[in-house]
Amino acid sequence: MSKVNELGTAKLTYEDKSIDLPVFVGSEQEAAVDIRALRKETGMITYDPGFVNTGCCLSDITFIDGEKGILRYRGYDINDLAEKCEFIDVAYLLVHGVLPNKEQHDEFSQHLNTHSLMHEDMRHFFDAYPDHAHPMATLSAMAVSLSTFYPELDDVSLQENIDFKVTRLLSKMRTAAAFAYKKSIGHPIVYPSHDLKYCENFLNMMFHTPVNNYQVDPVVTKALNKLLILHADHEQNCSASVVKMVGSAGANLYASISAGICALWGPLHGGANQHVIEMLERIIVEDKGDVKRVIERAKDKNDPFRLMGVGHRVYKSYDPRAKVAKQMCKDVLAQMGVSDPLVDLAQEVEEAVLADDYFVSRGLYPNIDFYTGLTYRAMGIPTNMFTVMFAIGRIPGWIAQWLEMRDDPHGRIGRPRQIYTGPTQRSMS
Ligand code: CMC
Repeated sequence: MSKVNELGTAKLTYEDKSIDLPVFVGSEQEAAVDIRALRKETGMITYDPGFVNTGCCLSDITFIDGEKGILRYRGYDINDLAEKCEFIDVAYLLVHGVLPNKEQHDEFSQHLNTHSLMHEDMRHFFDAYPDHAHPMATLSAMAVSLSTFYPELDDVSLQENIDFKVTRLLSKMRTAAAFAYKKSIGHPIVYPSHDLKYCENFLNMMFHTPVNNYQVDPVVTKALNKLLILHADHEQNCSASVVKMVGSAGANLYASISAGICALWGPLHGGANQHVIEMLERIIVEDKGDVKRVIERAKDKNDPFRLMGVGHRVYKSYDPRAKVAKQMCKDVLAQMGVSDPLVDLAQEVEEAVLADDYFVSRGLYPNIDFYTGLTYRAMGIPTNMFTVMFAIGRIPGWIAQWLEMRDDPHGRIGRPRQIYTGPTQRSMS
């Protein structure tokens, strides 16, 4: 494997069998044991629920050091990217591996505008969903529907077609998200405009009405760019793994992303941003603001309740995205001159978590979803759209991961094994 440094071998011995397994490190010195020969040589497989110890690929896209709280896309620190870039630059970076120069930025921006309209027949799909439909379900359906409207681009081997698909997905999914919202509140949809940039366009489609002459607020645009950058990729997380698993069977990019959207919807994953707000609201209404009681419930092993927006599989220190989101939440509220009792409550919960040995000893800190929902709320985005915002931000990451999977020389169909524990052969009579 040319991209890694071989360190030596690890010996696995069981009864009379012994096997030497190669050990290697990646560019950030993370070590791995290569077990590909394990079953062939020993007849055994590994058992690793949740893939906690399993590396499924070599990847050039995103690096996380969960102990130190580091996150980098293509080598750039998340703090720098969030501070200095527009979301579309980061999308370009993830997909193409380099930040765009001015000309590339302008061209990409223009392509995103060119592809922003959805086929009119797709627009009518929205009429068939009930008003209370969760927009994540609608968004997933729209993603896979793109493959029915643009089947001519299904040949995964054509690189130029991939560029079309990338812009189409990024642009049209944003349009679909805004349409889903408009439908849910019974307002007429607002078409995308070629005069507006990516984030402004989304905000205009969300908030313009025939009677309000909506003007995009630069504070909100800046915050949206930053939030989408924070969401843009997170290496082999649940939804990215789903996208790659579906793609590994040869399914097209739209179908793969549609599945990823469904995975992200789960409350343990991206759906947590909606659940954080709902949890904070319940603390006020049902627990009368008693944070101590809520913390005790979260620690009680007989109570299924968990603190939403707290804990992470990889981060065992403060999630670097949560740091940016927390500061941004404060800035947006201050700049818009709004206060929100839920933000004060969230800080109270955070302080209780940071002071409690249950959470500290398990490395449980606020994650990205703890403060992003509060920021979206300050920007006027409704609660059931929070995970949709996460999905729009994550699309470039899913695409980059899918492309890397498609081009992986070691790539094979994703197909874990199992240890069967059911009945042994039984007779029918
Ligand atoms: N509240 C209370 N206890 C928790 C929490 C929590 N939020 N999270 C983990 N724990 C405990 C868990 O009970 C276990 O305790 P013990 O060792 O005594 O059995 C220990 O911490 C390890 O937890 P785990 O479930 O084995 O950890 P995991 O890596 O499988 O799960 C997680 C990670 C994010 C699903 C989990 O921390 C969680 O459910 N958090 C709340 C949901 C959430 O905020 N999700 C968003 C994740 S960040 C955005 C994203 O990736 O999409």
